[in-house]
Amino acid sequence: MTPPRAEPAVELRGITKRFPGTLANDAVDLTVRHGEIHALMGENGAGKSTLMSVLYGMELPDAGTIRVDGRDVDFASPSDAMAAGLGMVHQSFKLFGSLSVAENVVYAAEPRRFGLVDRAAARRRVRELAAEHGLAVDPDARVGDLPVGLRQRVEILKLLHRGARTLILDEPTAVLTPAEADALFAVLKSLAAEGRTVILVTHKLREVLEGSDRVTVLRDGRVVARLVTSETSADEIAAAMTGRAVELDRVHAPGTPGDVVLEVSGLATDAVRDVDLTVRAGEIVGIAGVAGNGQSELIEALAGLRPVGAGHVALQGEDITHASATERRLKGLAYVPEDRHAVGTAPDASVADNLAMGHHRTSLSSRGLLPPTAVRAHARRLVERFGIKASAPEASASALSGGNLQKLLIGRELAHDAPLLLVEQPTRGVDIGAIQNIHDQLIAYRDAGHAVLLVSAELSEIRGLADRVLVMYEGRITATYDKDAADERTLGLAMAGGSGKQVETVD
Ligand SMILES: Nc1ncnc2c1ncn2[C@@H]1O[C@H](COP(=O)(O)OP(=O)(O)OP(=O)(O)O)[C@@H](O)[C@H]1O
Ligand SMILES: [Mg+2]
Repeated sequence: MTPPRAEPAVELRGITKRFPGTLANDAVDLTVRHGEIHALMGENGAGKSTLMSVLYGMELPDAGTIRVDGRDVDFASPSDAMAAGLGMVHQSFKLFGSLSVAENVVYAAEPRRFGLVDRAAARRRVRELAAEHGLAVDPDARVGDLPVGLRQRVEILKLLHRGARTLILDEPTAVLTPAEADALFAVLKSLAAEGRTVILVTHKLREVLEGSDRVTVLRDGRVVARLVTSETSADEIAAAMTGRAVELDRVHAPGTPGDVVLEVSGLATDAVRDVDLTVRAGEIVGIAGVAGNGQSELIEALAGLRPVGAGHVALQGEDITHASATERRLKGLAYVPEDRHAVGTAPDASVADNLAMGHHRTSLSSRGLLPPTAVRAHARRLVERFGIKASAPEASASALSGGNLQKLLIGRELAHDAPLLLVEQPTRGVDIGAIQNIHDQLIAYRDAGHAVLLVSAELSEIRGLADRVLVMYEGRITATYDKDAADERTLGLAMAGGSGKQVETVD
């Protein structure tokens, strides 16, 4: 146990960071005390990641000073920040999938014996660190085989191995299941109890209320609130972030389903077994399940990105079982994938071009060509409708903050007006105000007579939006509920594999 110290662990004063067309941080002061879990919140594009990049030596500030443990520092690179006792887990992990846990943890800071990497010592080191901090993970496991919650544990072990006393985590729970997120918070709390310091960027109010000591809220690059967690509330934080009252976790009224748009029977892939389902026009069907139970594989098979082993898929009565992804799009399917970076967007292209993608055969195009004026007007409409914060439609998509890239993807796919929308994790990394907007847009899409198949790890999202809820477990649909019956407890039980035969089975 480190005794509490008077000087703060981290003290940022007057940090200003400007990008072309954007003032990302505007004279930000942030004080983080030793041994606390400090949440940094704010809307998408408020400047959270930028501030953390400045603190971690990845971006040079235009103005301002940084003090760590009471000493002035001037970081030219992350290795300087590491030497001062900081460690950062980035939103997209930077581990080597083909290497073992032990190799990843000691990477670039390996224990050596006679000049050679001492593998036995590396394994021992991982076991020691794991036991000391309650971060159990097998040192010999291949990182690529681990679930995402354990991969994150490896990231944290890596920082501890290098002696990090202050840990910076940028949206660490965005890709975790609720159980994995709870496990992470248990670890963070014990690290804080040891006297380490945690700075946590997140959009999840529940986590902040349950897991943090203090909260700093940024809006448009400026600090707008400094709160003590035990003295604040979800509503107060939400209002500070958005400048207005936000209705959290709203449950929307059910739709009026019409004709069948998607009909799936006996579908099987490598990870999906014998799935039957229908989605009607004017209906949102939600798929709940613990990550890794075949939801993503099902959606990919329906989008034409994964081979179908058996079964049939029909879109508006037409068989598309073996149609390519492009053919499916032409026949009226739009798709928001889970991974907005790898398959969803082209980072080097402009915001406007990203928004126009796939629109070569829609009303935007003139004989298969996209006139630049139409592309710009289309971009302006969607930027406005989805509140995408971009300096200009010509700006590169790589300059968008995480949540704004997500809004771009949703906006582009909804704009296709396709009869069927497949959507995975629509609000991952999106701030609470924008979640409300995306939910409203999905409901309006449904009410305009479209069919929506929604996969989400957020039960509140499934409950709020879906007219019917299917639960997937080990590749099968094991239960189906009407909106009224889908309370969190019932869904939670079914997602865990059902307690006996309590769950209602599919007809
Ligand atoms: N490399 C860059 N070039 C230009 N603009 C950038 C760059 N990085 C960030 N920005 C802009 O700076 C602002 C702040 O972005 P930042 O990534 O810090 O937001 P954030 O608070 O982390 O948002 P999110 O919750 O969506 O992750 C945004 O308007 C963003 O577009
Ligand atoms: Mg960010």
